[in-house]
Amino acid sequence: MKTFCDCLNENAVSEELFSVFTSLKNAVKEISRVVKTSGTEKAGTQNIYGEDQLALDVLADKIIMDELKKNPLVGLVASEELPDEVKLGDGEYAVCYDPLDGSSLVDVNLAVGTIFGVYKRKTFVGAKGNEQVAALIAVYGPRTTVVLTSGKRVQEFVLGSDNKFVLANDDIKIEEGKMFAPGNLRAVSERADYMNLVDYWCKEKYTLRYSGGMVPDINQILLKGKGIFSYPGYGDVPDGKLRLLFECAPMAFLVTQAGGAASDGNVEILEKVVEKLDQRTPIYIGSKGEVERCCKFLQ
Ligand code: F6P
Repeated sequence: MKTFCDCLNENAVSEELFSVFTSLKNAVKEISRVVKTSGTEKAGTQNIYGEDQLALDVLADKIIMDELKKNPLVGLVASEELPDEVKLGDGEYAVCYDPLDGSSLVDVNLAVGTIFGVYKRKTFVGAKGNEQVAALIAVYGPRTTVVLTSGKRVQEFVLGSDNKFVLANDDIKIEEGKMFAPGNLRAVSERADYMNLVDYWCKEKYTLRYSGGMVPDINQILLKGKGIFSYPGYGDVPDGKLRLLFECAPMAFLVTQAGGAASDGNVEILEKVVEKLDQRTPIYIGSKGEVERCCKFLQ
């Protein structure tokens, strides 16, 4: 069985990026432990978006920050839970992360996840997703898994009882197939174009697979090798809810590396410039054919 480290070596990942992946892996192991053993109480605070934070959101954020602070190669971090990016030192790597995406699902014991994007930059402002040198997501479900890419191939690892990650899926590829995860369905109240798209999926007998967590929903598309996840905007929130830097760009990097695509309806997600850290974007992400269909229906 191949380990996480075997695969990074096989993919000829540089010593420096290997070290960054090791920090991410260590943080994921610790978050996996606390998600399974901690309470689900509110922290009594709100994040910069005005969303109630769970004690677990705060803890996951601290676990990642503490781990990255130990790595001198990481010079810059940005967390979805913090108002600004934080300069840690002179290291060339910049890591952005959503520590516990979908945390409102924790109390009902649905899967949640962590999202990381890795760049070589001195600020995230001005970055485009296609500058990422690596991306990694972790899913905390019945099993803890990670899917990662360093731009070579997309691989999945599963955390075993010995607390080690081993390779579960090598070279993940997304092809065409009828599976849909339609986010923000409330938009159909104002958008006939989204209604028509959802109607198309239903009439064509697509399989509905939607959990309410972006990480498990897109992880599913990667692992089943087919499908589409959508999260449009409407009315007062034309850009929807999902954040370009922390959620959409790393997901787009993984899915694109697996042969899929990601668009905001007009522009590829990986081509969009981060103008501010909390920038939101509509997203249509999955197989190439399905993303093209979204762009056609939603013009
Ligand atoms: O960004 C957080 C998140 O929970 C995503 O994981 C998920 O896809 C989305 O929000 C769900 O949005 P809504 O609350 O609008 O259903």
